[in-house]
Amino acid sequence: ATEETLVLVKPDGVARGLTGTILGRIEAKGYALVDIRLVEPDRDVLAAHYAEHEGKPFYEPLIEFMMSGPSVAIRLAGDRVIEGFRSLAGTTDPTTAAPGTIRGDFGRDWGLKVQQNLVHGSDSPESAARELSIWFG
Ligand code: CMP
Repeated sequence: ATEETLVLVKPDGVARGLTGTILGRIEAKGYALVDIRLVEPDRDVLAAHYAEHEGKPFYEPLIEFMMSGPSVAIRLAGDRVIEGFRSLAGTTDPTTAAPGTIRGDFGRDWGLKVQQNLVHGSDSPESAARELSIWFG
């Protein structure tokens, strides 16, 4: 069934000039851009978005990283797009993400406290609804 998901091109992706490449993969796969905007989220937006990670060792560095520059937020639609975008993105750790995925092809492990893994995609319909309301109101 058609569903929607939140995709973020994170600050590392925007800063490295990979937004167009990432959008190209999304469009080539056939997903529809419903809304897209450049955003500089404040701490409240990020605390809401990453509530499930509060207290983890990478939480504070993650918030700082996400405030280090603009991200591109995308409302993306398509059949099984939640699962499909996560497949395009690859696994969280860019070092071991499969080649052919966004993280596998372009992600770098900088030896930092946060995986700067270029993109985010909602992990379930519940997360997608929650995250879309946080980023798009
Ligand atoms: P994302 O899918 O946006 O959701 C949580 C983010 O936290 C994740 O991408 C990574 O950027 C980061 N992250 C998750 N797990 C770890 C980890 N074990 N070490 C460092 N960063 C992590």
